[in-house]
Amino acid sequence: MSAAASDKATPAPPCALVIFGATGDLTRRLLVPALRNLKRDGLLADGLALIGVASRDVGDDGFRKHLRQGMEQFKAGSGDADIDWFVQRTHYVAGKFEDPAVYKALAAKLKDVETAHRTAGNVLFYLATPPKEFSVIVDQLGKAGLTREADGHWRRVIIEKPFGHDLSSAVALNKEILKTLDEDQIFRIDHYLGKETVQNIMVFRFANGFVEPLWNRDHIDNVRITVAETVSVEQRGRFYDQTGALRDMVPNHLFQLLTLIAMEPPSCFGADALRGEKAKVLDAVHRLGPEEARQNVVRGQYGAGIVDNRKIVPYRKAPDVPPQSTTETYVAMKLAVDNWRWAGVPFYLRTGKALARRRSYITVQFKQAPLALFRDTPVDRLPPNDLTLHIQPDEGVTLRFGVKMPGPAVRIGDVDMKFNYQDAFETTPSTGYETLVYDCMTGDASLFQRADSIEAGWRVVQPILDAWKEDGRADLPIYPAGSSGPEEADALLLRDGRRWRAISSDGLSDGD
Ligand code: BG6
Repeated sequence: MSAAASDKATPAPPCALVIFGATGDLTRRLLVPALRNLKRDGLLADGLALIGVASRDVGDDGFRKHLRQGMEQFKAGSGDADIDWFVQRTHYVAGKFEDPAVYKALAAKLKDVETAHRTAGNVLFYLATPPKEFSVIVDQLGKAGLTREADGHWRRVIIEKPFGHDLSSAVALNKEILKTLDEDQIFRIDHYLGKETVQNIMVFRFANGFVEPLWNRDHIDNVRITVAETVSVEQRGRFYDQTGALRDMVPNHLFQLLTLIAMEPPSCFGADALRGEKAKVLDAVHRLGPEEARQNVVRGQYGAGIVDNRKIVPYRKAPDVPPQSTTETYVAMKLAVDNWRWAGVPFYLRTGKALARRRSYITVQFKQAPLALFRDTPVDRLPPNDLTLHIQPDEGVTLRFGVKMPGPAVRIGDVDMKFNYQDAFETTPSTGYETLVYDCMTGDASLFQRADSIEAGWRVVQPILDAWKEDGRADLPIYPAGSSGPEEADALLLRDGRRWRAISSDGLSDGD
């Protein structure tokens, strides 16, 4: 597992970090604060240089000023003591990403920083750009000879999501970048894998002997994955209206959670073993036919409402969203993993924007004990045994089980046994990108997506996109902002005699 998480982690090797899209939001809000947290924890080498690449012609000094302002605005966990350290080793190249002159200038800068900051010739290219630029940049880097690894130095490329818009574009993008790069030079990011609690799914499953014997179709009734967000589309209308909740969240973030829950134990935590097992899960997910997609997938769009005491305008009135938009801001689905471990166990997934609470959690519901023993008592129902892994913002694990309520009659009450990360460990603030950047610098690809998993994820999602395209979107349910989503999502479970636990009261600190 990632060394960044371990106590004895050593600083990453020296390198130049080249950020394409360096003046953008992602760099400012997430990437730079993550670098600062790595510095705080002593995980960056002194031989580090930062090179920003973007279209604005601001020059080295202009970019340094921009970086400093961003650092002062988006605080990291360690005060401002490190700002000068970063600014001193920061440089800038301006131009359009398709312009070969940019790469010539970049090559010269890389030579300079190799001497000035002793970066040892290692280079990490971070593509924090709109997706249409990914293949253009990789192609140009290749043509300029900047991806060539020689004399013991490495060249790696981090690619942000979304990786493709559908199956064929994901396949095409993989093909395109693999013309220039070897698979082991490519680090496709899914920031969910940078979250401690997501990584803990694996540790919980494989470091605890009691889990494995229960973790299968004999004992598990169903698995429910919820990623509920309170954020609305805000200023992202142009991107989001082309994307929708399914593409934005499911083949990446929700499938990461699904695969970590469902995968077989890998032979080791090496990148290939781990990613191989994850890809197998997605390969085993039953591909829905058009009729099955209609029956097993629900979508919705938020209307007006109140979230966290704020008035939310309907999605269709958000900036850059067409007033007739039929893009979904919510999706729920029932999937089947057709393999020996999981045959017959439904996996229910849901995610949406402008919901009542921000909460991500996975509930594994165990099969019920037979009611027979309690035939002659007032007990007419046994509580479900739910194991819930809380991902965010609460971080921990709860186990719900039945206990005898005090008193002469045998009555059963549901109680939760709780583990809360905060109570057990001192946690330091992080963005989730720290581990990912560090792992890339050290060459550990376990928490990054390989070409086959990306394509396997899209292979599951594509039939849903096709069915929706065929149907048009006239029947899109509208749910009030601040609710738990459309009623159709509840009906999806109710017809199987199951229910979601309420988003509004399903945290670690408040039972329902
Ligand atoms: C991003 C999506 O990948 O993940 C956003 O594009 C979403 O729409 C975000 O809000 C959720 O990430 P997190 O870490 O806040 O759960």
